[in-house]
This record gives sequence, C-alpha cells and structure tokens, in this order.
Amino acid sequence: MTKKYITTAIPYMNGNPHIGHAMDYCLADVCARYLALTGNEVRFQAGTDEHGSKIAQKADELGVEVQNFVDEKAKTFKDFIAKLNVSYTDYVRTTDEWHERRVQEIWRKLKDHIYLAKYEGWYCTGCERFITDKEYAENDGICPDHLKPYEKLKEENYYLRLSDFKDDLRKAIESGEMLILPDFRKKEILKLLEESPDVSISRPVTQLKWGVPVPDDPSQVMYVWVDALSNYITVLGYPEEDISDWWPATAQFVGKDILRFHAIIWPAMLLGMGLSLPKVLVSHGMVLADGQKMSKSIGNVVDPNEVIDKHGIDAFRYYFLRHIDTFDDSDFTWTKFEDAYNNELANDLGNLVQRLATLAAKNGIKIGNDTNVSKLSPEYCELMDKFEFSKAFDYVWEKVQGLNKRIDDEKPWELAKNGETEKLEKCLTSLVLDLLQVNAELSPLIPGTSEKIASVFAGEINPPKTPLFPKN
Ligand code: MSP
Repeated sequence: MTKKYITTAIPYMNGNPHIGHAMDYCLADVCARYLALTGNEVRFQAGTDEHGSKIAQKADELGVEVQNFVDEKAKTFKDFIAKLNVSYTDYVRTTDEWHERRVQEIWRKLKDHIYLAKYEGWYCTGCERFITDKEYAENDGICPDHLKPYEKLKEENYYLRLSDFKDDLRKAIESGEMLILPDFRKKEILKLLEESPDVSISRPVTQLKWGVPVPDDPSQVMYVWVDALSNYITVLGYPEEDISDWWPATAQFVGKDILRFHAIIWPAMLLGMGLSLPKVLVSHGMVLADGQKMSKSIGNVVDPNEVIDKHGIDAFRYYFLRHIDTFDDSDFTWTKFEDAYNNELANDLGNLVQRLATLAAKNGIKIGNDTNVSKLSPEYCELMDKFEFSKAFDYVWEKVQGLNKRIDDEKPWELAKNGETEKLEKCLTSLVLDLLQVNAELSPLIPGTSEKIASVFAGEINPPKTPLFPKN
C-alpha cells in the first residue's frame, strides 16, 4: 500500500466557523477518501491555529483569559469538523505542548538562515502579515481585505533569509516539483517570490506575548505563521520522529488568500530543514455570500451549522463540492442551495434510488454487495487525480440523470405487465449494477448517502422507508 498524506489549513481561533472554513475540510476529505478507496494508506491532518495578535486582541476585547478563549473556540471547531464528516486521522492545536516543543526544535534547525535586524514597516493584524512599502502604497495604507489601516511597526525582529532559497524554490515551482494548482496561481506566486524580501519571523514580547517563545531569547515570540505552518510536520512527530514515510505531503489544501504563505515561507522553511517540498499545493477559491465577500460588518456571514441542520451534511457537501467550483470563487445563496437540494438531490438521486429499489424488490432482483474500486471509471479517476472535484461531481451527476432516463425509456413496469420476465430481470439487474457503480464514485463526495444506498441494494433489496432527501 502506498502512503499518502493530506493536509488542511488550520483556522484562526478568533471567531466561529463560517461556511468558507468548510472548503478546506470538504476538499481535503474528498481527496483522502478517494485515495483510501483506490488502495492507499492515508494520513489526514486537521487542527486549529491558536496564537498571534489577532487572537490575543480578540480575547482582550472580550476581557477573557486568552487560553480559556482558545480552549472554548477550539472545541467549537472540533465539533464543526466532526459535523462535516471529515475523515481526519491526526489533529493538532498549536497550543499543544508537544507542538510548541517541536516548533522550537524547528527554529533551531533553521538557525543558519536566521538573523536579527530592525523592522520598520507595516503590519496587518487581520492578515497576520508584514506589508511591504510597495503594497502599502498600492492599497493607500488600508488593507483591502480587512478595511483597516495598516499598523506601523518599528521593532527588532528575527528574519528568515529567504534569499538563501529563492533559486531552488523558483526551480521547484517552475518544474512542477512542487505543483501549484490552479496553474494561473503559479504565475502569481513566481512574481511574488521575485519581489519578496527576507521574512520577519518573530515579534518582541513587548508587542505580543501570545506566541511560542523563540529558543534562547525570551524577549521574542515566533511569528504566528512560522508556528502555524510547522503544524503540518509536528503533527507527524517531527523532528522527534522519522516522518519519511509520510512527508512530503501528497497534497496540501489552502484558500487562495493564504497560498503565498504556503508557496513561499513554508517551502523556504522546509528547504532550510533539508526536507522535501509538498508535491501539490491545491488553492481553492473563496465562497461568497450573495455575490459578496462574507464579513461581520456587512452582516452576511453564513453559519454552516444552519445550512447543515436544514438538510443534513451530505446536502451541504453536495452544494460545496459541486456548485462551489474547486478553484474559483463561487456564490452561496439559500435559494441556490434549496434549488440544488430539491431539483438535484431529492429529484435526481433520491427518486432514482427509491424507484429503482422499489421496482427491483417487487420483481425479486438480488445483488451482492458489489461496490468495489474496480468500478471507478477512468474518466472519473482522471478528474479526481487532477483535483477537479466539482467537475468529477458533474460527471457523476450526468450518470445519475442518465440512469433516470434509462428507466423512463426502458419502462421495466411494462416488461412486468407483459410477462417478459427474462428481459425484465436483465434490465433491472443492469440498472442496479450501474447505480452501484455510480454509488462507488459518490462515496468520497457524499459518504453517508453512499453508505445508505449501498445498504439498500446489499443482498435483499430494501427500498428506503423514508426518502433519502425529504422535500420541505
Ligand atoms: N490560520 C490561518 C491558516 C494557517 S495554515 C498553517 C488562516 N486561518 S483562517 O481561519 O483565516 O482561514 C482558514 C482557511 O479557511 C483558509 O484556507 C482560508 O482560505 C479558508 N477560508 C476562509 N474564508 C473563506 C471563504 N470565504 N471561502 C473559502 N475559503 C475561506 O488563514
């Protein structure tokens, strides 16, 4: 069995989960389930990012102790991930003692590429990012994402000498040794890499206490991204354990807004430690609400729990994996979600299962549990292998609709009425087997529903007592 390692971005613990956070988890989960289905041994990391100014400031605003604050939030996120039916195997909180200890070891390993210098420039707490003068000028001093003025910093920081790695990094990106998907993001990253100065990787404790202490210098804490990015390997036990069975990661899933950290700082750190670069960085688009970026100030943040509670987790996964494009920004609206639920899940898939199971049971058809991996079609595998999950879902859905059409065209009820037993048996058996083939392809996408469908047709056929997707 080949070993594969899949990762997700770890969300900041300064707020509650919103539908955008679900993207990383859903995409990575499909990938992990597909790899397991095709015979690989899979490890899959998830976790929470709990340090940094943004979180410290939020706890301060609320007048609560920051550790208690993140403990509370981390619970909410862990419940949320469970609700998404995400098959992760490894979990990290960046406040875990073992993570902090390993990050300090990572810092020590990077020692030759770290130097101390004065930083005088800009910072955006919302992005947790040092801002270059060029960017400051381009944005007139205001962060376009957080709509807040950049903060002026004048402090002594440790720097990571990015220039030590630029050439190797450029080559790795250009050659596809570290593949960046989608391809157009790769060009953006190459340009950004050329323009990137050395990276500031610490903050003085006088400015920020809530972070992992820099080893041998109690006056500094690590920049939150150095701490957070390291989670991908500390969770595997690095540097205390040999991670060569699992690292480099097969695929790392991140939103386009944080690709720059994953495609520049993270690989520079890996090169500095003498580790290989991840094989693929998959960068997904943003989920918009009614065409707009979700924000607390606009008041259009959609609570994922509300969406899941309405029609169940597979309706949520269906919408986010099919109607939200894997790579581009896409819109969530309640109307689109309800339409997809009623017209596609309930009418196409729900009805197909109900009527085929009823016809097959009535006519005494029996099928063994035959949903094995050899049934995955090459077209489907090709799309899944390219991380084109929304396209793979479209492809599977065409087959769902095709099966409905076949039932309408072949009219098994007429064959029964006319006593054409042999033809009837052949027709229904073939339809059921084809549905089971489609069902195998659905299993990484909507695993709960796929299990239910498999159990309807296993051995004695038992039509569902209640519809798979009840209409409102
Ligand atoms: N803590 C960092 C990630 C550290 S990874 C070592 C962070 N956290 S976040 O909470 O802001 O974002 C977590 C993930 O959710 C990111 O991949 C981000 O792109 C994704 N999304 C946040 N809002 C989103 C949308 N509206 N739409 C899609 N994904 C979005 O960044």
